[in-house]
Amino acid sequence: MTDRDRAPESVDLSTPNAARMYDFFLGGKDNLAPDRAAAEMVLQIAPQIRIAAQQNRAFLGRAVRYLAEAGIRQFLDVGTGLPTQNNVHQVAHAVVPDAPVVYVDNDPVVLAHGRAILAGSKNVHIVQADLRRPEEILENPEVRERIDFDRPFAILLVAIVHFLQDADDPEKIVARFRDALPPGGHLVLSHVCGDALPEAVAPVTEIYRRSSTPIITRSTERIRGFFGDLELVEPGLANVSAWRPDTVEAKRVNERYPQGYFLAGVARKP
Ligand SMILES: C[S@@+](CC[C@H](N)C(=O)[O-])C[C@H]1O[C@@H](n2cnc3c(N)ncnc32)[C@H](O)[C@@H]1O
Repeated sequence: MTDRDRAPESVDLSTPNAARMYDFFLGGKDNLAPDRAAAEMVLQIAPQIRIAAQQNRAFLGRAVRYLAEAGIRQFLDVGTGLPTQNNVHQVAHAVVPDAPVVYVDNDPVVLAHGRAILAGSKNVHIVQADLRRPEEILENPEVRERIDFDRPFAILLVAIVHFLQDADDPEKIVARFRDALPPGGHLVLSHVCGDALPEAVAPVTEIYRRSSTPIITRSTERIRGFFGDLELVEPGLANVSAWRPDTVEAKRVNERYPQGYFLAGVARKP
């Protein structure tokens, strides 16, 4: 089945889109010619972005496994992306087979792929909603039915907050999600950082500006601020590949690319 078959008629598949560009960086097949062309332009400016995207994905897997092993039993993943390997529910269920996982995304193509792949999966659900309207997610009956907000759960905002424009007031939006966590709940967040590659910020931002999903890089300090007064677990805010690297490969990548193109952290509500 093609993306045209899967996507609602209203979706413009001729405009590059971040979810599909990210899929291309990860080596996936769910991307189209305009996505590949835009992604190739990004790689010409900043070839490191491909490996940074792969490391971001690996961080997501390590963070979910860490949380499941630490006793977290429910996961709300906002900004799911196209299904790939080591999706959140697969990593979580390898540790806790019946942990409820709710995916949220606003991209109809992601929703269509997600629904096709998740059909029949137990304890996994996908909801269409927009991060810019937190109540749409936090008060969503389908979310509330599956995630018990009175018991510790994890909110994952991985490689999504950089799609919020400053006019959207990302600090306020992320604070709304932090406030929704009960004690013992966790926030997992990663974000593209402009500090490591200042000369690439303007040209890369310009490529994404012409996509359906403009991107904003932010400074280390602003990214740290998204965690508010939650307690960052070791090693704190770090380059994605430096967050608890568990393989020789992750350690090697971290040595080779010590700067953080994607910064990430996992923080606990006291
Ligand atoms: C780069 S992908 C990240 C996927 C996954 N979290 C990861 O890190 O591997 C970003 C996802 O966020 C979604 N997204 C972007 N802006 C959004 C918004 N305002 N509301 C909901 N989803 C959004 C995109 O559709 C895309 O699927």
